[in-house]
Amino acid sequence: MNLLIENAKQIITCHTRGRRFKAGKYQSEISLIENESIFVENGRIKWIGKKLPSYVKKSNPKKINAKNKTVLPGFVDSHTHLVFAGDRDNEFSMRIKGKTYEEIAKAGGGIISTVKATKKASKAELKKLAKHRINSSIGFGVTTIEAKSGYGLDTKNEIKMLEVIYELNKETPIDVYATFLGAHAFPKHKSKKEYIDEILYDMIPQIAKRNLATFIDTFCEKNYFSVDDTRKIFMQGINFGLVPKLHTNQFYSIGGIETAAEFDAISVDHLEVMNGKDINALKGTNTIACLLPSVSYFLDISYAPARKLIDAGIPVALATDFNPGSAMSENIQLVMSLAVQMLRMNIEETINAVTINGAASLGISHNVGSIEVGKQADLLIFDVPDYKHILYHFGVNHLKTVIKKGKIIM
Ligand code: NIG
Ligand code: FE
Repeated sequence: MNLLIENAKQIITCHTRGRRFKAGKYQSEISLIENESIFVENGRIKWIGKKLPSYVKKSNPKKINAKNKTVLPGFVDSHTHLVFAGDRDNEFSMRIKGKTYEEIAKAGGGIISTVKATKKASKAELKKLAKHRINSSIGFGVTTIEAKSGYGLDTKNEIKMLEVIYELNKETPIDVYATFLGAHAFPKHKSKKEYIDEILYDMIPQIAKRNLATFIDTFCEKNYFSVDDTRKIFMQGINFGLVPKLHTNQFYSIGGIETAAEFDAISVDHLEVMNGKDINALKGTNTIACLLPSVSYFLDISYAPARKLIDAGIPVALATDFNPGSAMSENIQLVMSLAVQMLRMNIEETINAVTINGAASLGISHNVGSIEVGKQADLLIFDVPDYKHILYHFGVNHLKTVIKKGKIIM
């Protein structure tokens, strides 16, 4: 089916002109065009312009009137933990009363409590819960999402989670990319060495052989996985064709960023705690800084130094980190609002961070993340006359239509 989006008041193209991401002063460049139309054929953008070519008219496309509306590329949520069972509402109550995330984890709560619930759940149960959450993400404009394992912590249950993610990619309207995060926490009843060996020699080979993940991640943090552990896991992941991505600098700076840069990680995520050395380690690399301000909001911890990163020429992406412990929200528009208000990013930088730079964090910015002829037609239509209103008129979802591969999915 062909589709014609007619006469949009604004189209924010996020055009890359061949670059993989937008960094430094280019992160503010959104390539706005006005009063133009977009023609989509076979799921791809075929034409953008004012005066319809005759082949567009002849193809008798389905039409959407976008008068007074604003079109953006579909949002890419490049960091989530959306497959899990159970909830942590009790921990939430405890945190509100003053306990910290780290204190709760030390007392046996945190990631381990979600591991217990996720191990008990069947694949069908996990998938049903995750599908519901993906629908919620779509409602905020997400057309591509990443999802991590990491609540199994043994071979059987890590693979179970990755199988669920694989099936979600087939059975939901959006693209779902998988990250293997066996190194999310240490399971009880195994030594650290035993568990790391299981990741290296059992999980990674099986996962790679079955093509169940694109990326490999560790939670590189004090009391979790060290720089040495991360090195071993990245090395083995790379040997099996997985691409490194890293959770680091959420609570402490322990050298995770330097390790990520050394392994040419596609992204480093969190970065709430950064020193000058950490910023220098990222300069001039191909690694995207993926910031997760919902975590800072939800856990009441510091916000990542987005301005310093952007001013140092480092490409910044934004994602939800949707998970039951540190960011229980699928709302990527809330992330955008926090970016503007709390990270001091400007509106244009923020839009690029959830589109083209989000796509670059998943290695897919040649195909999605911007509105360009030839790219996949993942498009959002907002009922606002100017893109700034998406963030200026805050706390309200102005999204009217979501298009994925040329199909209207909401
Ligand atoms: O990205 N920091 C590690 N992992 C998640 C939290 C997972 C959880 O608390 O269940 C995060 O914040
Ligand atoms: Fe995370």
